[in-house]
Amino acid sequence: MKVSIIGVGKVGSSLAFVLSTRNFVQELVLVGRSPESVMGDVLDLRHGQLFVECPTRIVAGTLADTAGSDVIAICASAPMPSNMADRLSLAPANVALMQGLLPELACLSPDSKIVIASNPVDVLVHFALEFTGFEPRQVIGTGTLLDSARFRQLLGEELQIHMDDIRANILGEHGDSQFPAMSCANAGGEPIDATPARYALAQQAARAGFEVFNRKGFTNYAIALAAADIIQVIALDTRHTMPVSLKVDGFLGVDDVCLSLPAVVGKRGIERILHPQLNEQEQEAFLHSASVVRKVIESVRE
Ligand code: 2OP
Repeated sequence: MKVSIIGVGKVGSSLAFVLSTRNFVQELVLVGRSPESVMGDVLDLRHGQLFVECPTRIVAGTLADTAGSDVIAICASAPMPSNMADRLSLAPANVALMQGLLPELACLSPDSKIVIASNPVDVLVHFALEFTGFEPRQVIGTGTLLDSARFRQLLGEELQIHMDDIRANILGEHGDSQFPAMSCANAGGEPIDATPARYALAQQAARAGFEVFNRKGFTNYAIALAAADIIQVIALDTRHTMPVSLKVDGFLGVDDVCLSLPAVVGKRGIERILHPQLNEQEQEAFLHSASVVRKVIESVRE
């Protein structure tokens, strides 16, 4: 598999490191604003190849060098505002960044799947579909995959169950309007009751990114691992179900924005969107997320 990473800052370089240790990437192309710094990452990653199971060909390149990519990971971003609670304020700058990158990337790799880790991810998936002309299945945002991982980790600690066995998704916007689909949450088939304490854990998961950001000024490791997980599922066609940001297909009457829903992911990208049986409160939360993202899309277009 050929993977190109566009944007080799903290997230992009962390993703490059993760992918360089996995054995499904034959070629990794890093494209970034500062060629010297990108080459520094490439050399550093190459030096580690002796220690990994399957060496990967790692190069620094330009957009032209991404031609024929199977997956293109978008990690490029304008600088995050001082308070990450403000992911949405990145929209105008990052949509403009996408507009400058995606048309050429799409021409060079028309059959690629695009995985977007940059924020505001739901807005960027929406515009990426517009700028590339790709089918909805080809563009996937990390969305609430990381929020759900953070939530499952907290639930696992409370329930004393391994987080792999906790079925609980955060859905909607990767942002303040995200919500836990507690009505569908279970462990081993036993429902996980929607107690106030568990909603508090969902709130804690929603704030987890800020807890990191406020201490070190960015988040990178977990979001890189989340993006790598999506890329691995595409590469190996494992058909895992993941809460990712995608073009909503009419679920609850929404078909004009991108939000996180559980989806079956495979070699074609989004293989199938799943429609969870949300209760009324969760349906309202999903529609609220849609209106939040729709407003940002409209404001960017103004
Ligand atoms: C996070 O929550 C970067 O938005 C991402 O860590």
